[in-house]
Amino acid sequence: MYSIVVSCPRGLEDKLQEEILTITSKNSTVQKGHVGLKGNWQDIYLINLHSRLASRVLVQIKQGKITSENELYELSTQVRWPDYFNQDKTFKVRVEGKANWCRRFDILALKIKDAICDVFVQKTNVRPNIDKSHPDIRISAYINQNIAILYLDTSGEALFKRGWRQETDIAPIRENLAAGLLKLANYDGKQPFIDPMCGSGTIAIEAAMMAANLAPGLNRTFAFENFNNFDSPLWENLRIQAEKNIHAPKYPIYASDNQPQIINKAINNAIKAGLSDYLQFDCIPFNQIQTKDKNGLLLTNPPYGQRLSDLEKIQAQYPEWSKVLKQNFDTWTAGFITSDLDFPKILRLSPKRKIPIYNGKIECRLYLFDIVAGSNRK
Ligand SMILES: C[S@@+](CC[C@H](N)C(=O)[O-])C[C@H]1O[C@@H](n2cnc3c(N)ncnc32)[C@H](O)[C@@H]1O
Repeated sequence: MYSIVVSCPRGLEDKLQEEILTITSKNSTVQKGHVGLKGNWQDIYLINLHSRLASRVLVQIKQGKITSENELYELSTQVRWPDYFNQDKTFKVRVEGKANWCRRFDILALKIKDAICDVFVQKTNVRPNIDKSHPDIRISAYINQNIAILYLDTSGEALFKRGWRQETDIAPIRENLAAGLLKLANYDGKQPFIDPMCGSGTIAIEAAMMAANLAPGLNRTFAFENFNNFDSPLWENLRIQAEKNIHAPKYPIYASDNQPQIINKAINNAIKAGLSDYLQFDCIPFNQIQTKDKNGLLLTNPPYGQRLSDLEKIQAQYPEWSKVLKQNFDTWTAGFITSDLDFPKILRLSPKRKIPIYNGKIECRLYLFDIVAGSNRK
């Protein structure tokens, strides 16, 4: 059994814990920004393949007490690195945490790198190469004052990279945050869905992936495929099983935006994700959207005024959004992620839930409203 750490955007830890229980049937403990569990390689493959909320899956390979950079070097030489990967693989080391005795974490990363190279040279006479942008192997170290923990990163590229996103000039949210917002809003693919300000389509594409039961990791590769102990038949079986579970969504999924060039990007992203048959795109301003569907979820990420335009201009639109919600989305749940703390007040609607969440470094709230025709702030 290994100690496994699964990181996620802050605010999604409890939902990640629920997700990991569903994926592995294992209990986990919640910490800030991650959950921890004991598990085996099958659990690690399964979480990488199926978790919609995780950012990375790390396996602990060494823990020890250190008081200096040289002691970190010594600790790192105690790991039998050639057991984990071959000398022909490139690697990269990342160090995080806090240590009063050291202000230069880049030096700590160099110490670990030197230790790895020295262990390889001693055992194989070959010094593996560093690749800072696309390494085959990533080593993570977490320093908490005098405790150092070394991890193998089993994911490689962060898990929010599902493999479908084209380059975009708008401000997309990360795929695992989009999936987390859907979970926080209790979306399970069994209700109509709309994102009326969809940008590159992230939230609607994640909704379609959930509704189609498409595992988010099916279209990408993982660092564990480069490990010496990679169990290719087991991995192939897990992938085949995941492919068998895909089905067409039973309820409609709509995505719209008022910018034609942006909608085109969202359509291209949906095509790349293999989900374009399951989504309906439209170029229309939010305040003109009509629907005949009932009991759906509207979930969106409006401009915050920090990155896309000026806040006052956006706030001037809120009353129109409120009007369209009350006129056309009776019986729906509406969710908005925004950094604007005045959002419900200007919207003149009382949220049923207000959930603190981070969009990258921006502190936000997910506001959830039950929409009742003509409802107003009491
Ligand atoms: C922050 S971006 C959404 C990003 C999106 N979540 C993603 O991941 O790509 C906000 C989007 O709202 C759109 N928008 C702004 N005002 C709108 C309105 N009144 N009606 C429809 N779309 C609007 C913008 O064109 C922009 O694409």
